[in-house]
Amino acid sequence: MCGIVGYTGTRPAGPIVLEGLRRLEYRGYDSAGIALFDRDHGLFVARATGKLDRLIQRVEGTLPPAVAGIGHTRWATHGEPSDQNAHPHLDPSGRVAVVHNGIIENYHALRARFLERGAVFLSETDTEVLAFLLAERLERGEDLLDALRGVAGEAQGAYALLAVDAEEPGRIVAARVGNAGGIVIGLGDGEHLLASDLGALIPHTRRVTFLEPGEFADVRADGLAFVDADGRTIEKTVAVQPYDVVAAAKGRFRHFMLKEIHEQPETVQYALHGYSPDPPRVVMDGLPFSDAEIRALTRVVLIGMGTSMHAAMVGRHYIERFARIPAEVDNSAEFRYRGPVLDEHTLVISISQSGETVDTLAGMEEARRAGCPQVTICNTPGAQATRIAHGTVYMRTGPEIAVASTKTMVASMLLLHGIALHLGRVRGTLDPSLARQQIEAALHVPAAVGAALELEPRLAEIADRYSRYEDFLFLGRGLGYPLALEGALKLKEVSYIHAEGYAAGEMKHGPIALIDERMPTVAIAPHDEVFDKMLSNIEQVRARHGSVIAFVSHGERAVDGLANEVVELPAVDPALFPLVGVVPMQLLAYHIAVQRGADVDQPRNLAKTVTVE
Ligand code: AGP
Repeated sequence: MCGIVGYTGTRPAGPIVLEGLRRLEYRGYDSAGIALFDRDHGLFVARATGKLDRLIQRVEGTLPPAVAGIGHTRWATHGEPSDQNAHPHLDPSGRVAVVHNGIIENYHALRARFLERGAVFLSETDTEVLAFLLAERLERGEDLLDALRGVAGEAQGAYALLAVDAEEPGRIVAARVGNAGGIVIGLGDGEHLLASDLGALIPHTRRVTFLEPGEFADVRADGLAFVDADGRTIEKTVAVQPYDVVAAAKGRFRHFMLKEIHEQPETVQYALHGYSPDPPRVVMDGLPFSDAEIRALTRVVLIGMGTSMHAAMVGRHYIERFARIPAEVDNSAEFRYRGPVLDEHTLVISISQSGETVDTLAGMEEARRAGCPQVTICNTPGAQATRIAHGTVYMRTGPEIAVASTKTMVASMLLLHGIALHLGRVRGTLDPSLARQQIEAALHVPAAVGAALELEPRLAEIADRYSRYEDFLFLGRGLGYPLALEGALKLKEVSYIHAEGYAAGEMKHGPIALIDERMPTVAIAPHDEVFDKMLSNIEQVRARHGSVIAFVSHGERAVDGLANEVVELPAVDPALFPLVGVVPMQLLAYHIAVQRGADVDQPRNLAKTVTVE
């Protein structure tokens, strides 16, 4: 969480840094700040509580044309969102400015040293002490980069940090400590840029290199050097990154979330590029394992957080059904701490659109220590997850800007379907006729997702009727269960309505006590082998005066007159139902949020990438 940007070159840095922050605002948006500095203009610092626009208003007409600068957009961890707690933070003499993403775990102890000497801190953050520590070392005559390495040795935690010294105009140093918070460095013509992720650099350059944990960068307009924690020089590879900048604009849509929901037919079309029905085969780019390694697998563990974990839950069904390998799903944050039993025959599949979610990275490290083969499903080129896993299956959805994930879930589910079919074929556990049927069925999914989007007016109408409720229950069984969880998550995050997602079989074990006329239930009820059970659940809700919004298969009549709202979904193979069924969940949440006037793309308290625990 938090976005950091740096620029040093020959152009005025202010607009470049602010534009970079705009592209990183999805990482945190409770306050923002900028520091500009060069030989002619000294150190200029401005901060503002609230979204980036507040900062832009505040600095309008006053930005010096300095040719170097750093900026920050914040997601508060230590100290409330306020001008004082916004970055950059300075040392008492105003010589050093820092911006930081991540957590300094021992900041109390570090601060105490200065407090004993009567120092005054202006913020409640864990960051400010880093400026104090750096200034202390600079006063002792240390070089800025050496000072940064020294501070990184003292400040425990996982974080990314940029620092500048007003006495060395145009020089920016950067540190990456642990797995939280990436830093990508862009190489331009007579200029260099730094940012938390690629999206902020792309308008300026595609030639980039990524800082690895334990690496430090020394960046000037005309020079770039890298060292490790011991100060030894490192040679870094510079890669040219493809990235669709156009996709990062809203276009005709009112919100990024809506645009990204509408991009899903193309998303699935792309994810199908390895599917061919004759002979039935799925070629998965990025799966690095030999047939012998695949045959030796005894278990699959899927990890992820939030929406990515819900995609993993769908993936578990696919792995067990098509590859017949025992599969389990874990929330990465639980997985990493419970000492999971793993070995070299356990395939770990991590799902993360950002590839920077701190708990998922930690889970992957746990798997690496145990010698597990690993593949990650990721949407961000060069993200840390792609560097831990043995192979990466890219979602290739283009940037997902809205904080609420939509198209990356659809891509993840389909890629897991492809992985399962591939594993099943190699292991000989997948009947070729089933493989052909699934591949052919999958090729119809883009059209079915497109048809699901046509339900939007109906969902907007339902949203209009239900947007004033404060509690919702989402129920599903089998492949509908992850959708119930996802539907509830989407509604919570974008509309701030309390929503619970449950496996429908669990309803009578507690949640049923909540049901009355004030709590509508969304029932995900495709015509599958557990449809009759879902029908009973719907009856039970209605018997307690609860309203029911039912999502059913095309042509289903059994809930007519029973549910208050019946939405028929486009026809699709039952195994692929989640890919189509998730679309109305997204649209319902979106339209309820719009009805309530919520900030759809940047919901309160959230950030797109969660890089702190
Ligand atoms: C989804 O709408 C949420 N914003 C969140 O749950 C997200 O899916 C989760 O933080 C995982 O992110 P990742 O895919 O980047 O790892």
